[in-house]
Amino acid sequence: KNFPEDRSRGPMMMGHGHHNMPLQQSTGENELRIPPILESDKEIGNEVYYTIEAQKGQTEIFEGIQTKTLGYNSSFLGPVMKLKKGQNVHIKLKNSLDEETTFHWHGLIIDGEADGGPHDVIQPGEEKEINFKVQQDRATLWFHPHPKGKTAKQVFEGLAGLIYIEDSKDDPFEYGENDFPLILQDRTFNNQKQLDYQFVQHPDGTMGESLLINGTLSPRLTVNNEKVRFRLLNGSNMRNYTIKLSNNQSFQQIASDGGLLNAPVELKELQLTPSERAEIVIDFSKFKKDEDIKLIMDDGTVLLPFQIKDKGKEVKNEIQEPLTPVTISNEEMQKQVSKEIVLFGMGHHVTINGKKFDMNRIDFTQKKGETEVWEIYNKPDMMGGMIHPFHIHGTQFKVISINGEEPPENLQGYKDTIALDPGDRAKIAVKFEEKGVFMYHCHILEHEDNGMMGQIKVE
Ligand code: C2O
Ligand code: CU
Ligand code: CU
Repeated sequence: KNFPEDRSRGPMMMGHGHHNMPLQQSTGENELRIPPILESDKEIGNEVYYTIEAQKGQTEIFEGIQTKTLGYNSSFLGPVMKLKKGQNVHIKLKNSLDEETTFHWHGLIIDGEADGGPHDVIQPGEEKEINFKVQQDRATLWFHPHPKGKTAKQVFEGLAGLIYIEDSKDDPFEYGENDFPLILQDRTFNNQKQLDYQFVQHPDGTMGESLLINGTLSPRLTVNNEKVRFRLLNGSNMRNYTIKLSNNQSFQQIASDGGLLNAPVELKELQLTPSERAEIVIDFSKFKKDEDIKLIMDDGTVLLPFQIKDKGKEVKNEIQEPLTPVTISNEEMQKQVSKEIVLFGMGHHVTINGKKFDMNRIDFTQKKGETEVWEIYNKPDMMGGMIHPFHIHGTQFKVISINGEEPPENLQGYKDTIALDPGDRAKIAVKFEEKGVFMYHCHILEHEDNGMMGQIKVE
Protein backbone atom coordinates (compact mmCIF):
# COMPACT_ATOMS: atom_id res chain seq x y z
CA LYS A 1 0.00 0.00 0.00
CA ASN A 2 1.25 3.46 -0.61
CA PHE A 3 0.34 5.97 2.01
CA PRO A 4 -0.23 9.58 1.11
CA GLU A 5 2.63 11.82 2.13
CA ASP A 6 0.40 13.77 4.43
CA ARG A 7 0.32 10.90 6.82
CA SER A 8 4.05 10.93 7.34
CA ARG A 9 4.01 13.89 9.71
CA GLY A 10 3.82 11.52 12.60
CA PRO A 11 5.75 8.29 12.70
CA MET A 12 4.49 5.85 10.09
CA MET A 13 2.32 3.30 11.75
CA MET A 14 0.85 0.06 10.67
CA GLY A 15 -1.62 -2.33 12.19
CA HIS A 16 -2.75 -1.50 15.67
CA GLY A 17 -0.33 1.40 16.00
CA HIS A 18 -2.89 3.18 13.88
CA HIS A 19 -4.76 3.87 17.10
CA ASN A 20 -2.15 6.36 18.09
CA MET A 21 -2.03 8.31 14.88
CA PRO A 22 -1.01 11.78 16.07
CA LEU A 23 -3.12 14.77 15.27
CA GLN A 24 -1.59 17.82 13.62
CA GLN A 25 -1.71 20.92 15.78
CA SER A 26 -3.92 23.80 14.91
CA THR A 27 -1.81 26.75 13.83
CA GLY A 28 -4.84 29.00 14.08
CA GLU A 29 -4.82 30.14 10.45
CA ASN A 30 -8.56 30.07 9.94
CA GLU A 31 -11.32 31.66 11.99
CA LEU A 32 -13.66 28.94 13.23
CA ARG A 33 -16.70 28.36 11.09
CA ILE A 34 -19.97 28.75 12.99
CA PRO A 35 -22.74 26.56 11.54
CA PRO A 36 -25.89 28.44 10.50
CA ILE A 37 -29.13 28.03 12.44
CA LEU A 38 -31.65 26.07 10.36
CA GLU A 39 -34.67 28.14 9.45
CA SER A 40 -38.06 26.54 9.64
CA ASP A 41 -40.20 26.19 6.48
CA LYS A 42 -43.17 27.39 8.47
CA GLU A 43 -44.39 27.69 11.99
CA ILE A 44 -48.06 27.62 12.92
CA GLY A 45 -48.65 27.93 16.64
CA ASN A 46 -46.98 24.96 18.22
CA GLU A 47 -46.34 23.19 14.92
CA VAL A 48 -42.98 23.71 13.30
CA TYR A 49 -41.86 22.40 9.92
CA TYR A 50 -38.34 21.77 8.71
CA THR A 51 -36.67 20.22 5.69
CA ILE A 52 -33.40 18.38 5.99
CA GLU A 53 -31.70 17.26 2.84
CA ALA A 54 -28.68 14.97 2.69
CA GLN A 55 -26.63 16.09 -0.28
CA LYS A 56 -23.29 15.91 -2.05
CA GLY A 57 -21.10 18.91 -2.57
CA GLN A 58 -17.65 20.40 -2.72
CA THR A 59 -16.04 22.32 0.09
CA GLU A 60 -12.95 24.47 0.32
CA ILE A 61 -11.31 22.89 3.36
CA PHE A 62 -7.80 23.62 2.03
CA GLU A 63 -7.29 27.03 0.48
CA GLY A 64 -8.01 27.02 -3.23
CA ILE A 65 -8.88 23.29 -3.36
CA GLN A 66 -12.32 21.75 -3.69
CA THR A 67 -12.82 18.62 -1.61
CA LYS A 68 -15.79 16.37 -2.30
CA THR A 69 -17.95 16.22 0.81
CA LEU A 70 -21.43 15.39 2.05
CA GLY A 71 -23.67 17.66 4.09
CA TYR A 72 -27.16 18.46 5.30
CA ASN A 73 -28.66 21.47 3.51
CA SER A 74 -25.12 22.46 2.57
CA SER A 75 -22.02 20.95 1.07
CA PHE A 76 -20.45 19.94 4.36
CA LEU A 77 -21.80 19.02 7.80
CA GLY A 78 -25.16 20.47 8.81
CA PRO A 79 -26.90 23.43 10.35
CA VAL A 80 -27.98 23.72 13.99
CA MET A 81 -31.62 22.79 14.38
CA LYS A 82 -33.15 24.57 17.37
CA LEU A 83 -36.19 22.83 18.82
CA LYS A 84 -38.31 23.93 21.76
CA LYS A 85 -39.64 21.68 24.45
CA GLY A 86 -43.36 21.08 23.85
CA GLN A 87 -43.22 21.80 20.12
CA ASN A 88 -44.68 19.43 17.55
CA VAL A 89 -41.99 19.00 14.97
CA HIS A 90 -42.46 17.88 11.37
CA ILE A 91 -39.33 17.21 9.39
CA LYS A 92 -39.22 16.45 5.72
CA LEU A 93 -36.22 14.22 5.11
CA LYS A 94 -34.76 14.23 1.62
CA ASN A 95 -32.11 11.91 0.36
CA SER A 96 -30.24 13.58 -2.52
CA LEU A 97 -27.23 11.28 -2.23
CA ASP A 98 -26.37 8.48 -4.67
CA GLU A 99 -26.79 5.89 -1.95
CA GLU A 100 -29.30 4.98 0.71
CA THR A 101 -29.22 6.74 4.03
CA THR A 102 -31.21 7.25 7.22
CA PHE A 103 -31.62 10.28 9.50
CA HIS A 104 -30.93 9.44 13.14
CA TRP A 105 -31.58 11.86 16.02
CA HIS A 106 -28.90 11.00 18.52
CA GLY A 107 -30.02 11.70 22.09
CA LEU A 108 -33.57 12.63 21.20
CA ILE A 109 -36.47 11.00 23.02
CA ILE A 110 -38.51 9.86 20.06
CA ASP A 111 -40.51 6.82 18.93
CA GLY A 112 -38.80 3.96 17.13
CA GLU A 113 -40.37 4.76 13.75
CA ALA A 114 -38.93 8.25 13.62
CA ASP A 115 -35.61 7.43 15.25
CA GLY A 116 -33.86 6.77 11.95
CA GLY A 117 -32.05 3.55 12.77
CA PRO A 118 -31.01 1.05 10.08
CA HIS A 119 -34.63 0.00 9.44
CA ASP A 120 -35.67 3.48 8.32
CA VAL A 121 -33.85 3.64 5.00
CA ILE A 122 -34.61 6.38 2.50
CA GLN A 123 -33.57 5.53 -1.04
CA PRO A 124 -31.70 8.04 -3.24
CA GLY A 125 -34.08 10.64 -4.62
CA GLU A 126 -36.79 9.81 -2.11
CA GLU A 127 -38.22 11.69 0.83
CA LYS A 128 -40.25 11.02 3.93
CA GLU A 129 -41.81 13.05 6.71
CA ILE A 130 -41.43 12.36 10.41
CA ASN A 131 -43.40 13.90 13.26
CA PHE A 132 -42.64 14.03 16.95
CA LYS A 133 -43.16 16.09 20.06
CA VAL A 134 -40.16 17.52 21.87
CA GLN A 135 -40.33 16.14 25.42
CA GLN A 136 -36.98 16.81 26.94
CA ASP A 137 -35.29 19.75 28.58
CA ARG A 138 -32.61 21.84 26.98
CA ALA A 139 -29.68 19.87 25.70
CA THR A 140 -27.17 19.62 22.90
CA LEU A 141 -27.96 16.62 20.69
CA TRP A 142 -26.95 15.73 17.17
CA PHE A 143 -28.09 13.98 14.03
CA HIS A 144 -26.28 11.70 11.63
CA PRO A 145 -26.95 8.82 9.21
CA HIS A 146 -27.33 5.21 10.35
CA PRO A 147 -27.64 2.92 7.30
CA LYS A 148 -26.60 -0.65 8.02
CA GLY A 149 -22.86 -1.05 7.49
CA LYS A 150 -22.40 2.43 6.03
CA THR A 151 -22.70 4.79 8.96
CA ALA A 152 -18.97 5.31 9.41
CA LYS A 153 -18.34 6.27 5.80
CA GLN A 154 -21.25 8.70 5.55
CA VAL A 155 -20.38 10.45 8.81
CA PHE A 156 -16.72 10.57 7.78
CA GLU A 157 -17.66 12.28 4.52
CA GLY A 158 -19.56 15.02 6.34
CA LEU A 159 -23.03 13.99 7.43
CA ALA A 160 -23.46 15.34 10.96
CA GLY A 161 -25.44 18.23 12.40
CA LEU A 162 -26.43 19.60 15.79
CA ILE A 163 -29.78 19.84 17.55
CA TYR A 164 -30.24 22.33 20.35
CA ILE A 165 -33.25 21.71 22.56
CA GLU A 166 -34.46 24.85 24.27
CA ASP A 167 -36.96 25.18 27.07
CA SER A 168 -38.76 28.01 28.80
CA LYS A 169 -35.96 29.01 31.14
CA ASP A 170 -33.95 31.85 29.72
CA ASP A 171 -30.52 31.29 28.54
CA PRO A 172 -28.01 34.06 29.14
CA PHE A 173 -25.69 32.93 26.36
CA GLU A 174 -26.01 34.02 22.77
CA TYR A 175 -25.24 31.83 19.78
CA GLY A 176 -22.13 32.90 17.90
CA GLU A 177 -21.43 35.63 20.46
CA ASN A 178 -20.54 33.78 23.65
CA ASP A 179 -21.98 30.36 22.85
CA PHE A 180 -20.16 28.24 20.28
CA PRO A 181 -20.48 24.66 19.09
CA LEU A 182 -17.23 22.74 18.73
CA ILE A 183 -17.64 19.61 16.63
CA LEU A 184 -14.36 17.72 16.91
CA GLN A 185 -13.58 15.44 13.97
CA ASP A 186 -10.32 14.00 12.74
CA ARG A 187 -10.06 13.29 9.05
CA THR A 188 -7.50 11.98 6.65
CA PHE A 189 -6.98 13.35 3.16
CA ASN A 190 -5.16 11.87 0.15
CA ASN A 191 -2.62 13.67 -2.03
CA GLN A 192 -5.40 15.39 -3.92
CA LYS A 193 -6.80 16.58 -0.57
CA GLN A 194 -9.82 14.38 -0.98
CA LEU A 195 -11.46 12.41 1.80
CA ASP A 196 -10.73 8.83 0.92
CA TYR A 197 -12.61 6.57 3.22
CA GLN A 198 -11.85 3.30 1.41
CA PHE A 199 -8.18 3.87 1.67
CA VAL A 200 -8.02 4.34 5.37
CA GLN A 201 -10.72 1.96 6.40
CA HIS A 202 -9.78 0.11 9.53
CA PRO A 203 -12.00 -2.27 11.45
CA ASP A 204 -11.27 -0.51 14.74
CA GLY A 205 -12.16 2.87 13.38
CA THR A 206 -10.81 5.50 11.09
CA MET A 207 -8.40 8.01 12.49
CA GLY A 208 -7.11 11.02 10.69
CA GLU A 209 -4.10 13.27 11.00
CA SER A 210 -6.10 16.44 10.39
CA LEU A 211 -8.39 17.92 12.99
CA LEU A 212 -11.45 19.76 11.78
CA ILE A 213 -13.57 21.75 14.20
CA ASN A 214 -16.97 22.57 12.68
CA GLY A 215 -15.31 21.60 9.39
CA THR A 216 -12.54 24.19 9.81
CA LEU A 217 -8.94 23.09 9.42
CA SER A 218 -6.44 24.78 11.75
CA PRO A 219 -9.07 26.90 13.46
CA ARG A 220 -8.76 29.80 15.89
CA LEU A 221 -11.54 31.56 17.72
CA THR A 222 -11.89 35.17 18.75
CA VAL A 223 -13.81 35.50 22.00
CA ASN A 224 -14.90 38.35 24.21
CA ASN A 225 -13.35 38.85 27.57
CA GLU A 226 -16.26 37.20 29.40
CA LYS A 227 -17.75 33.82 30.21
CA VAL A 228 -18.16 31.75 27.08
CA ARG A 229 -20.09 28.52 26.65
CA PHE A 230 -18.79 25.80 24.33
CA ARG A 231 -20.93 22.91 23.26
CA LEU A 232 -18.52 20.14 22.47
CA LEU A 233 -19.37 17.12 20.36
CA ASN A 234 -16.94 14.34 19.64
CA GLY A 235 -18.09 13.67 16.09
CA SER A 236 -15.10 11.49 15.23
CA ASN A 237 -15.39 7.90 14.08
CA MET A 238 -13.13 6.48 16.77
CA ARG A 239 -10.73 9.03 18.29
CA ASN A 240 -11.07 9.98 21.96
CA TYR A 241 -10.16 13.49 23.11
CA THR A 242 -9.12 14.58 26.56
CA ILE A 243 -9.29 18.35 26.48
CA LYS A 244 -7.83 20.98 28.79
CA LEU A 245 -6.68 24.60 28.76
CA SER A 246 -3.07 25.37 27.87
CA ASN A 247 -2.58 27.42 31.05
CA ASN A 248 -3.97 24.53 33.09
CA GLN A 249 -6.77 26.67 34.48
CA SER A 250 -10.04 25.02 35.32
CA PHE A 251 -13.31 25.42 33.50
CA GLN A 252 -16.84 24.42 34.35
CA GLN A 253 -18.84 21.64 32.82
CA ILE A 254 -22.51 22.59 32.94
CA ALA A 255 -24.12 19.89 30.80
CA SER A 256 -23.55 16.36 29.59
CA ASP A 257 -25.21 14.42 26.73
CA GLY A 258 -28.79 14.79 27.95
CA GLY A 259 -28.69 18.34 29.29
CA LEU A 260 -27.70 20.41 32.27
CA LEU A 261 -26.06 18.92 35.32
CA ASN A 262 -27.51 19.60 38.75
CA ALA A 263 -24.64 21.95 39.41
CA PRO A 264 -21.64 23.06 37.39
CA VAL A 265 -18.60 20.84 37.88
CA GLU A 266 -15.14 22.39 38.08
CA LEU A 267 -12.68 20.49 35.87
CA LYS A 268 -9.18 20.76 34.53
CA GLU A 269 -9.56 17.93 32.03
CA LEU A 270 -12.43 16.30 30.27
CA GLN A 271 -12.56 13.13 28.20
CA LEU A 272 -14.96 12.82 25.29
CA THR A 273 -15.37 9.53 23.44
CA PRO A 274 -17.20 9.34 20.09
CA SER A 275 -20.70 10.85 20.19
CA GLU A 276 -20.39 12.28 23.71
CA ARG A 277 -21.26 15.94 24.28
CA ALA A 278 -20.34 18.34 27.03
CA GLU A 279 -21.20 21.97 27.56
CA ILE A 280 -18.42 23.83 29.25
CA VAL A 281 -17.98 27.44 30.36
CA ILE A 282 -14.61 29.13 30.20
CA ASP A 283 -14.26 32.43 32.01
CA PHE A 284 -12.06 34.54 29.74
CA SER A 285 -12.41 37.58 31.99
CA LYS A 286 -9.91 35.88 34.31
CA PHE A 287 -7.21 35.98 31.65
CA LYS A 288 -5.13 38.88 30.44
CA LYS A 289 -6.03 40.25 27.04
CA ASP A 290 -2.88 39.11 25.31
CA GLU A 291 -2.57 35.90 27.27
CA ASP A 292 -1.97 32.99 24.99
CA ILE A 293 -4.79 30.56 25.77
CA LYS A 294 -5.55 27.47 23.77
CA LEU A 295 -7.77 24.48 24.01
CA ILE A 296 -5.36 21.55 23.94
CA MET A 297 -5.33 17.80 24.36
CA ASP A 298 -3.78 16.14 27.39
CA ASP A 299 -0.69 15.35 25.28
CA GLY A 300 -0.27 19.04 24.45
CA THR A 301 -1.65 18.98 20.90
CA VAL A 302 -3.25 22.35 20.15
CA LEU A 303 -6.87 22.04 19.12
CA LEU A 304 -8.06 25.64 19.20
CA PRO A 305 -6.11 28.81 19.97
CA PHE A 306 -8.18 31.68 21.36
CA GLN A 307 -7.79 35.34 20.73
CA ILE A 308 -9.31 37.46 23.48
CA LYS A 309 -10.95 40.79 22.62
CA ASP A 310 -11.31 43.34 25.40
CA LYS A 311 -14.87 43.88 24.60
CA GLY A 312 -16.62 42.01 27.35
CA LYS A 313 -19.89 42.20 29.11
CA GLU A 314 -20.43 42.16 32.79
CA VAL A 315 -19.90 38.58 33.76
CA LYS A 316 -23.51 37.83 34.37
CA ASN A 317 -24.10 34.84 32.22
CA GLU A 318 -24.64 32.32 34.94
CA ILE A 319 -27.09 29.50 34.53
CA GLN A 320 -29.33 28.98 37.52
CA GLU A 321 -29.36 25.82 39.54
CA PRO A 322 -30.69 23.25 40.06
CA LEU A 323 -30.57 22.44 36.44
CA THR A 324 -31.88 18.99 35.74
CA PRO A 325 -35.32 17.93 36.88
CA VAL A 326 -34.99 14.31 37.84
CA THR A 327 -37.15 11.93 35.88
CA ILE A 328 -35.45 8.75 37.03
CA SER A 329 -35.82 8.60 40.81
CA ASN A 330 -33.25 7.42 43.32
CA GLU A 331 -35.57 4.57 44.15
CA GLU A 332 -35.60 3.42 40.55
CA MET A 333 -31.82 3.53 40.58
CA GLN A 334 -31.77 1.00 43.46
CA LYS A 335 -33.42 -1.73 41.38
CA GLN A 336 -31.75 -5.08 40.63
CA VAL A 337 -29.90 -5.55 37.36
CA SER A 338 -32.32 -6.97 34.78
CA LYS A 339 -30.25 -6.69 31.59
CA GLU A 340 -26.64 -7.59 31.08
CA ILE A 341 -24.60 -6.38 28.16
CA VAL A 342 -21.12 -7.69 27.43
CA LEU A 343 -19.00 -5.73 24.99
CA PHE A 344 -16.18 -7.79 23.58
CA GLY A 345 -13.50 -7.87 20.94
CA MET A 346 -11.74 -5.68 18.47
CA GLY A 347 -11.72 -5.13 14.74
CA HIS A 348 -13.97 -7.44 12.78
CA HIS A 349 -14.54 -9.63 15.82
CA VAL A 350 -16.54 -7.20 17.92
CA THR A 351 -19.70 -8.55 19.53
CA ILE A 352 -22.35 -7.71 22.11
CA ASN A 353 -23.34 -10.67 24.29
CA GLY A 354 -21.41 -12.89 21.88
CA LYS A 355 -23.51 -11.88 18.88
CA LYS A 356 -23.30 -9.60 15.91
CA PHE A 357 -26.09 -7.32 14.80
CA ASP A 358 -29.01 -8.96 13.04
CA MET A 359 -31.77 -6.70 11.77
CA ASN A 360 -34.23 -9.58 12.14
CA ARG A 361 -33.44 -10.38 15.74
CA ILE A 362 -34.80 -8.54 18.76
CA ASP A 363 -32.33 -8.96 21.59
CA PHE A 364 -34.26 -7.45 24.46
CA THR A 365 -37.66 -6.07 25.33
CA GLN A 366 -38.63 -3.45 27.87
CA LYS A 367 -41.87 -1.77 28.89
CA LYS A 368 -42.42 1.83 27.98
CA GLY A 369 -42.10 4.12 30.98
CA GLU A 370 -40.49 1.46 33.17
CA THR A 371 -36.98 1.94 34.49
CA GLU A 372 -34.65 -1.04 34.32
CA VAL A 373 -31.08 -1.35 35.48
CA TRP A 374 -28.64 -2.48 32.81
CA GLU A 375 -25.16 -3.68 33.58
CA ILE A 376 -22.62 -3.02 30.86
CA TYR A 377 -19.34 -4.91 30.97
CA ASN A 378 -16.37 -4.25 28.72
CA LYS A 379 -14.74 -7.67 28.74
CA PRO A 380 -10.99 -7.49 28.09
CA ASP A 381 -9.36 -9.80 25.54
CA MET A 382 -5.84 -11.21 25.22
CA MET A 383 -4.60 -7.94 23.75
CA GLY A 384 -6.11 -6.01 26.64
CA GLY A 385 -9.09 -4.65 24.79
CA MET A 386 -10.05 -1.05 24.17
CA ILE A 387 -12.48 1.68 25.21
CA HIS A 388 -15.99 1.16 23.87
CA PRO A 389 -18.41 4.10 24.05
CA PHE A 390 -21.78 2.41 24.63
CA HIS A 391 -24.83 4.26 23.29
CA ILE A 392 -28.59 3.66 23.47
CA HIS A 393 -31.11 5.22 21.07
CA GLY A 394 -34.30 7.00 22.07
CA THR A 395 -33.47 7.60 25.71
CA GLN A 396 -31.34 9.44 28.24
CA PHE A 397 -30.11 7.22 31.03
CA LYS A 398 -28.44 7.77 34.39
CA VAL A 399 -25.21 6.19 35.52
CA ILE A 400 -25.66 4.42 38.86
CA SER A 401 -22.13 3.15 39.35
CA ILE A 402 -18.88 2.36 37.59
CA ASN A 403 -17.03 -0.64 39.05
CA GLY A 404 -19.21 -0.42 42.13
CA GLU A 405 -18.39 3.21 42.78
CA GLU A 406 -20.37 6.38 42.44
CA PRO A 407 -19.65 7.93 39.05
CA PRO A 408 -17.71 11.21 38.87
CA GLU A 409 -19.92 14.27 39.25
CA ASN A 410 -19.92 15.13 35.57
CA LEU A 411 -21.34 11.68 34.78
CA GLN A 412 -24.23 12.07 37.20
CA GLY A 413 -26.49 13.89 34.77
CA TYR A 414 -28.34 12.44 31.79
CA LYS A 415 -26.24 10.49 29.31
CA ASP A 416 -26.89 8.58 26.11
CA THR A 417 -23.34 7.28 25.74
CA ILE A 418 -21.03 5.93 28.41
CA ALA A 419 -17.35 5.20 27.84
CA LEU A 420 -16.08 1.96 29.33
CA ASP A 421 -12.41 1.15 29.72
CA PRO A 422 -11.43 -2.50 29.32
CA GLY A 423 -12.56 -4.39 32.42
CA ASP A 424 -15.09 -1.72 33.44
CA ARG A 425 -18.55 -2.61 34.62
CA ALA A 426 -21.17 0.11 34.76
CA LYS A 427 -24.73 0.06 36.01
CA ILE A 428 -27.14 2.42 34.33
CA ALA A 429 -30.84 3.17 34.87
CA VAL A 430 -32.67 3.15 31.54
CA LYS A 431 -36.19 4.27 30.77
CA PHE A 432 -37.87 4.64 27.39
CA GLU A 433 -40.73 7.11 27.01
CA GLU A 434 -41.70 5.93 23.55
CA LYS A 435 -42.38 2.62 21.85
CA GLY A 436 -40.54 1.01 19.00
CA VAL A 437 -37.38 -0.84 18.14
CA PHE A 438 -34.22 0.95 19.27
CA MET A 439 -30.55 0.25 18.68
CA TYR A 440 -27.87 0.06 21.32
CA HIS A 441 -24.29 -0.11 20.16
CA CYS A 442 -20.67 0.86 20.42
CA HIS A 443 -20.26 4.36 18.99
CA ILE A 444 -16.92 3.65 17.40
CA LEU A 445 -18.66 3.86 14.07
CA GLU A 446 -16.69 1.04 12.48
CA HIS A 447 -17.52 -1.22 15.44
CA GLU A 448 -21.17 -0.40 14.93
CA ASP A 449 -20.88 -1.14 11.20
CA ASN A 450 -19.05 -4.37 12.07
CA GLY A 451 -22.05 -5.54 14.07
CA MET A 452 -21.37 -4.35 17.62
CA MET A 453 -25.03 -3.46 17.91
CA GLY A 454 -28.24 -4.95 19.25
CA GLN A 455 -31.94 -4.13 19.24
CA ILE A 456 -34.41 -3.57 22.02
CA LYS A 457 -38.14 -3.54 21.46
CA VAL A 458 -40.05 -1.18 23.71
CA GLU A 459 -43.74 -2.02 24.10
CU1 C2O B 1 -25.12 8.39 17.21
CU2 C2O B 1 -26.84 4.81 16.76
O1 C2O B 1 -26.04 6.64 17.06
CU1 CU C 1 -28.11 7.41 18.60
CU1 CU D 1 -16.29 -0.53 20.25
